[in-house]
Amino acid sequence: MSEQDRSTRTLAVDIGGSGIKVMVLDEEGQPQTERSRLETPQPPKPEPVLEAIASLASGQGEFDRVSVGFPGVVSGGIIKTAVNLDPSWIDFDLQTTLKDRLGKPVRVANDADIQGLGAIAGTGVELVITLGTGFGSALFVDGILVPNLELGHHPFRKGETYEQQLGRSALDTVGSKRWNRRLEKAIASLQNLFNCDRIYIGGGNTKKIAVELPPQVKIVPNVSGLLGGIALWRD
Ligand code: BGC
Repeated sequence: MSEQDRSTRTLAVDIGGSGIKVMVLDEEGQPQTERSRLETPQPPKPEPVLEAIASLASGQGEFDRVSVGFPGVVSGGIIKTAVNLDPSWIDFDLQTTLKDRLGKPVRVANDADIQGLGAIAGTGVELVITLGTGFGSALFVDGILVPNLELGHHPFRKGETYEQQLGRSALDTVGSKRWNRRLEKAIASLQNLFNCDRIYIGGGNTKKIAVELPPQVKIVPNVSGLLGGIALWRD
């Protein structure tokens, strides 16, 4: 197939605390390749992470542009926080550095925001939380993102934040039963705060959810963290 015959292909990248995942999407956001994954390098500093992305990208065939979900606050392609990676990310221009490295246009956004863009209905008040290494959050009003919401680092209960109570290390420490009870409390607390029309829960630890969720709460597949990447190119 010639370059002109095919639709624009987007390499979607999801940088996580434990894994880096990639997949190519077509113009409609449909997957065109199998998802591929590498363990997040340790320590997770910019250079080895960029190296891992370049290596994953080289196994995905052709693509024209790149969308990246990053586990921290991102402003204009520049990293502002990276609690679960490494402090050397702060003020790192990921968008420009990766563009130079891959030779393609790049857009970078917060990972939970991308997860949300891949999941929401686009009407009313919709909250997305992600349960993985960290606790991600994204709030949408009629499909418009409220920027930079970081519930993960907001106080929740017993002097701890949502991330301290529900992140991966909490799950490892207190076990699934207590973690599930905490999750029920967190959903109730967030529902009281935002009066959401819908709450979506994504991230790798959704597979540990063992409680019945209220009717407005829906679990979204982890792949939304990649699929939502297409939305970064809808201007
Ligand atoms: C970060 C968020 C991120 C979440 C999930 C938190 O620690 O502050 O920006 O979305 O982890 O990766």
